[in-house]
Amino acid sequence: MNSTLFFCIMFCTCISIGLADPGNLQDTCPTGPQTMFINGLLCKNPVNISASDFKSTKLRDAGNTKNSLGSAVSIATDIDFPGLNTLGLSTARTDLEVAGLVTPHSHPRATEMFFLYNGSVMAGFIDTNNKVFRTLMKAGDVIVFPRGLFHFCYNVGSEFATAYSVLNSQNPGVTENADAISISDSGIMNKIKNRLISSPESKVKDTNDATLSGFSGLHFA
Ligand SMILES: *[C@@H]1O[C@H](CO)[C@@H](O)[C@H](O)[C@H]1NC(C)=O
Ligand SMILES: *[C@@H]1O[C@H](CO)[C@@H](O)[C@H](O)[C@H]1NC(C)=O
Repeated sequence: MNSTLFFCIMFCTCISIGLADPGNLQDTCPTGPQTMFINGLLCKNPVNISASDFKSTKLRDAGNTKNSLGSAVSIATDIDFPGLNTLGLSTARTDLEVAGLVTPHSHPRATEMFFLYNGSVMAGFIDTNNKVFRTLMKAGDVIVFPRGLFHFCYNVGSEFATAYSVLNSQNPGVTENADAISISDSGIMNKIKNRLISSPESKVKDTNDATLSGFSGLHFA
């Protein structure tokens, strides 16, 4: 009996260890051009780590929203924010002009907490049954976009809106090819549709705000 219980405990512990992200073996590991590899980028020599490795100014200014969607997303990952290496986090800023839209996209490696700093935004996500969960956000509200699910936001207010996000991967990745999903909710999706339709194809291809590629195949019901 005891040995069965022991086996069960060991087995369950092994499963949870197997599924969990690897933990850090040191307090910090900012990336740099030298030495050790752990799970992420190479770590800097400890003697050369400084406070600046743990600060990013990338999200200080609004992104360029002068594009066909009226939106911009900037993300700071381990690549340009060295202190994030091995910490399992990244951060982003979303700027939306009035009626600006971030089209559905997903992050294969991260859940995203999206904090609306100012403005009024309709935000939501689409689960694997194509069910759309959307909600009106006011300044100070937070929504969570579960890992791997397509999500979007749309400025429904009368002023410029800004949101900040934290993602639980230092390298969340982004998938924008929405061919696999079929959105059946009307409301916000019709707005997305109308907005996409009203964007000339050439302009759409020219923007570099990382919110557009692959959306020609998006299905709307
Ligand atoms: C630390 O940085 C200094 C100046 O940036 C460089 O000259 C030195 O080689 C670095 N030391 C180590 C151990 O990497
Ligand atoms: C949000 O902040 C931006 C920049 O400060 C400003 O232009 C905009 O009007 C603000 N929006 C609201 C709803 O306060």
